[in-house]
Amino acid sequence: MTKRYDFDEIIDRRGTASEKWDKYRERDIIPLWVADMDFRSAPEIIEALHERVSHGVFGYTAPPEGLAQAVIESLQGEFGWQVQKEWITWLPGLVTGLNVACRAVGEEGDDIITFTPVYPPFMSAPPLSGRNVINVALSCEDGHWGLDLDALERSVTSRTSQLLLCSPHNPVGRVWTLQELTALADFAARRDLVICSDEIHAGLVLQEGVRHIPIATLSPETSRRTVTLLAPSKTFNVPGLGCSFAVISDDTLRRAFRKAMGRIVPHVNLLGYTAAEAAYRHGEEWRRELIGYLRGNRDLVAREVATMPGLKVFPVEATYLAWIDVRETGIGDPVRFFEEAGIGLSGGADFGLPGFVRLNFGCRRALLAEALRRVRVALEGVARG
Ligand SMILES: Cc1ncc(COP(=O)(O)O)c(C=O)c1O
Repeated sequence: MTKRYDFDEIIDRRGTASEKWDKYRERDIIPLWVADMDFRSAPEIIEALHERVSHGVFGYTAPPEGLAQAVIESLQGEFGWQVQKEWITWLPGLVTGLNVACRAVGEEGDDIITFTPVYPPFMSAPPLSGRNVINVALSCEDGHWGLDLDALERSVTSRTSQLLLCSPHNPVGRVWTLQELTALADFAARRDLVICSDEIHAGLVLQEGVRHIPIATLSPETSRRTVTLLAPSKTFNVPGLGCSFAVISDDTLRRAFRKAMGRIVPHVNLLGYTAAEAAYRHGEEWRRELIGYLRGNRDLVAREVATMPGLKVFPVEATYLAWIDVRETGIGDPVRFFEEAGIGLSGGADFGLPGFVRLNFGCRRALLAEALRRVRVALEGVARG
């Protein structure tokens, strides 16, 4: 296959107010922390944005006519999921969606379950909404992260009203199987729970032979109790444009969700809409090449880390985030240690599991190789004492 896109191109992000790069503005630290990629968006997205900007009038904007249709076709094509236009609610961010879902269901004082380690807003959204969070630890056996269904059964209370699912899972990189999702859906049905499923990484499955299944597609009954949160932001690298959406098939649940949004959640930025439509309509070829490139990066991380003293990395089935166990190194503050060695990572403690770090490999390969070289040098220093 001839390649159309150059993911190895050096693009200087310094001076663009990039969160990822500005954090270490004054220091020689390669930023592999917050989850955006260093790649330029698909040319079709950039072109659509140019065209919209050159119009020059930026008034209040409704979702463009063709956007819902582009999303519907994409969900049908990718997952065989038949979504109706009225099921879609536009949101300026997925974290907003998580927080709205927590407020929309049940009452203050209710319990909401999530699986840890997990992207931090899953743990903060319930308390921010006057609910309690119940953290159920994922299991990890023989280097494989999984759902601990016994712990899940034990965790549920008479006040449990909702389950927050991260699917695929950030940070452990799992794509939940049909069997796992069915067990969760059965559990939710037995306990009459709403499922809020964050599927922001659905378009970033890297593992050959593995496919993402939206939990809402398991059955009409599961669909009725599910809020699915989606966005083009991770897949097409447009998170700064803030355009996401919730898919809710049940009228009552959707009304409750929209009511909880109230007048607090702002409109989606009009450029976010523009980028989203271009991404879903024209971004597929770019996405396919991106997946190929990310697989190469994922394999490089796996190969290198496997031979580093004290580190263990887990298979990344989806996302561009590697979850690494550093406990055997005996390093007390891994984020600081790696920063001092010139690599900026995310700390596991923020995800509810100290002793781990998360490495974002959504960058050009030469930079990743240099970061991994620095990690190796630093660890060899530790091993030498
Ligand atoms: C699982 C998950 N959900 C949500 C987000 C962020 O979504 P947004 O920026 O749209 O609020 C991220 C970003 O890293 C994520 O990993």
